[in-house]
Amino acid sequence: MRLIIMAPPGGGKGTQASELCDRYEIPQVETGKILRKAVKEQSELGRRAEKYMNSGELVPDQVMVEIIRSRLRKPDCENGFVLDGFPRTIPQAEALEELFEEEDIELDAVIYLNVPEQIIYQRLGRRRVCPECGSTYHLDANPPEVESICDNCGSDIVQRDDDRKDAIKKRLQEYRNKTKPLLEFYKSRGLLNEIDGDQSIDEVTSAIKEALD
Ligand code: AP5
Ligand code: MG
Repeated sequence: MRLIIMAPPGGGKGTQASELCDRYEIPQVETGKILRKAVKEQSELGRRAEKYMNSGELVPDQVMVEIIRSRLRKPDCENGFVLDGFPRTIPQAEALEELFEEEDIELDAVIYLNVPEQIIYQRLGRRRVCPECGSTYHLDANPPEVESICDNCGSDIVQRDDDRKDAIKKRLQEYRNKTKPLLEFYKSRGLLNEIDGDQSIDEVTSAIKEALD
């Protein structure tokens, strides 16, 4: 299975990608996570990406394409993967098509979670993440078992740096201008599966399963 999961910021990409990866036993290739790790380590990539991420802007295409090229060539991606957060621009999608051609592989489907913008603010304002293992929670829809503690590793959960109102606004603007055009791009290739993302987490999971089956 080679899948792309698309949604606006906070639309549920990570939540649903992790379900899909468990089901098909394939890796979740989450560009935001790769970048956040680089920022935390203050590597060259991290120092370069940090200013864009904090303000909610997209990191330049060339940087992202290089990250994906090397990640998808790793052996764990041989039997498939879920792309969470890539591609996000037409040039990124074109570069991905080239890479697939070079590697002689095909994309199976693009899952698009349609979530209205007013819902996004509620989702991101109440999201908490584990800075150690990356697990994601929502204080109402998906709270941890013990308040403020990650179920998975026991660390204190926190708010993500870019879940501030000003950064959310910029992320939504970037999504509208640069990422939304990908819907037509994949529709014209017969790969787009639109799912109503404004349902409970379990309902969205079932709708995706139905679409893929
Ligand atoms: P990234 O980490 O990908 O951020 P994003 O696109 O803004 O998406 P999020 O991770 O915030 O949301 P999500 O869709 O995964 O939702 P989640 O499942 O967490 O990227 C961060 C930054 O890195 C970008 O801004 C950019 O700077 C850079 N970047 C990354 N990739 C790039 C690329 N390819 N090109 C250029 N730059 C790039 O859910 C959100 C919340 O809602 C959670 O609390 C969750 O529990 C809850 N929730 C989920 N589903 C439901 C539901 N059905 N009902 C109720 N609550 C729900
Ligand atoms: Mg995410």
